[in-house]
Amino acid sequence: MSKKHSHLWSLPPEKVSLPLPPEKVSYPRRSLILRLALLAFFLSLLALYCRPSRPLYSPPNADLDIDTLLLNLPSTANLRNDLKYYTSTAHVAGTEADRQQAEWTRDKFREYGIDRAEVQEYWPYLNYPVSRRLAVVQAPEEGLLFEAGLREDVVEGDETSKMQDAVPTFHGYSANGNVTARLVYANYGTPADFAYLDSLGVNVTGAIILVRYGDYGDIDRGVKVRAAELRGAAGVVIYSDPAEDGCAQKPK
Ligand SMILES: *[C@@H]1O[C@H](CO)[C@@H](O)[C@H](O)[C@H]1NC(C)=O
Ligand SMILES: *[C@@H]1O[C@H](CO)[C@@H](O)[C@H](O)[C@H]1NC(C)=O
Repeated sequence: MSKKHSHLWSLPPEKVSLPLPPEKVSYPRRSLILRLALLAFFLSLLALYCRPSRPLYSPPNADLDIDTLLLNLPSTANLRNDLKYYTSTAHVAGTEADRQQAEWTRDKFREYGIDRAEVQEYWPYLNYPVSRRLAVVQAPEEGLLFEAGLREDVVEGDETSKMQDAVPTFHGYSANGNVTARLVYANYGTPADFAYLDSLGVNVTGAIILVRYGDYGDIDRGVKVRAAELRGAAGVVIYSDPAEDGCAQKPK
């Protein structure tokens, strides 16, 4: 990309670690996070099934097959329904949907006999995007070559793909800014990928790094951004490689 320059709005020009100017960031009014942990879940199972009103196992005339009981707990249908409920709506922390799901979960625990289930309120740091843009421009006149939609395509039969902008595409916790810089492709953005670019003499300082989503080598998205930041990159764009995503993958 010697003649082309990329204009990719993602992270600030100087450093990816710049703090966000407060006026550009909206903070959640409140964020609700359930504090009902697995422990409570198992305690509830214990409470419900270890001390039932009638014994679960009373040989020699047991009218209940304990093996069958254990194999059916928790019920597959309930798990399926609950998971469907949680995953069919976007519920980013601090949103109305988040609150509804927290209260729904609390009510379920109460329904199961845990009267003291309650929603705890926390105030963590969390940013939401105000505006986002990703474009490729031709230097030096900056003619627009490509403008990314930043939206998932709607797929028939996939209801969640129809929730456009339910969760806008952005890097959570990323700094605010506007950057135009040359683009460097860095595979998965692992430390080994950056070391390879070093060995080729590719300069990533001040560049926008394009990396594939993916956890090969157990690498988290934040680690990709951090690896780029440590080398002085101006920004990072992460994308899902179609070959590794969705319909290109055969059902397992
Ligand atoms: C970002 O910079 C470009 C040109 O460098 C400018 O056209 C655009 O308005 C800027 N966007 C924001 C949000 O500042
Ligand atoms: C890498 O690029 C940056 C920004 O263009 C420049 O300041 C720096 O000197 C370059 N480093 C090397 C080793 O060429």
